[in-house]
Amino acid sequence: MSVAIKTESEIAKMRVAGRLTSEVLDYIAPFVRAGVTTNELDKLCHDLIVNVQKGIPAPLNYAPGGHNPYPKSICTSINHQICHGVPSDKILKNGDIVNLDITVIKDGYHGDSSRMFMIGEPSIQAKRLCEVTYQSLWRAIRVVKPGAYLGDIGHAIQGYVEPLGYSVVREFCGHGIGHRFHEEPQVLHYGRPKTGLRLEAGMIFTIEPMINAGKAAIKHLNDGWTVVTKDRSLSAQYEHTILVTSTGFEVLTVSDDTPSPP
Ligand code: MF3
Ligand code: CO
Ligand code: CO
Repeated sequence: MSVAIKTESEIAKMRVAGRLTSEVLDYIAPFVRAGVTTNELDKLCHDLIVNVQKGIPAPLNYAPGGHNPYPKSICTSINHQICHGVPSDKILKNGDIVNLDITVIKDGYHGDSSRMFMIGEPSIQAKRLCEVTYQSLWRAIRVVKPGAYLGDIGHAIQGYVEPLGYSVVREFCGHGIGHRFHEEPQVLHYGRPKTGLRLEAGMIFTIEPMINAGKAAIKHLNDGWTVVTKDRSLSAQYEHTILVTSTGFEVLTVSDDTPSPP
């Protein structure tokens, strides 16, 4: 397994891509309301990325091995949808929770981040799931420093959410990112302390836990992309792109309205 150590000039470009990605989430937030369709959110984000940011929405036509090309510019995963939800004419309604996952390419480099949005007044259970998922992401981020292990990251998430009765999705993970959308290493959201790859300054990867209110099992919809919980329980996800620095971590997907750390 070879994990790239990014150069200073690559890191500078990753900071720019990360900021733009986060700014798309800031921009779209006020539009994520009851009555809007996920296609409308997709178009708004697409136009901002292409026309204003002069970037490229990485998901559009993305076709990793065996997949049909992804048809939209963002991912919109509603309620029991775990990830890779494909925007459609479906209307968001009061009580829904939705994850918007944005990946912007700028100057050849990728930023990747997602947040949960609540429509109107979701149930206490739905809110709690989103809060716990956000907490789990930040518990993992705070582990990141040279000499820490990937297993420490997975354990920080799993050891926090499972005792609360939630489950960690196994089939999808965080990933190295840079000039390519998905590169080594795989960043599992479960694991044992002091196992796996040892982190070094200059590595860049995402952490993006998918946490289910029910069981961990997943199912693929026949659109070839959307992933849902098998038991139809709610699922939540947050994602940041993280640089390992000489003293710890730097979150690259930041902007004026990034939610504050818990
Ligand atoms: N943004 C997702 C991730 O965090 C990947 C989406 S791939 C797509 O890794 F094709 F569905 F857009
Ligand atoms: Co990602
Ligand atoms: Co993403």
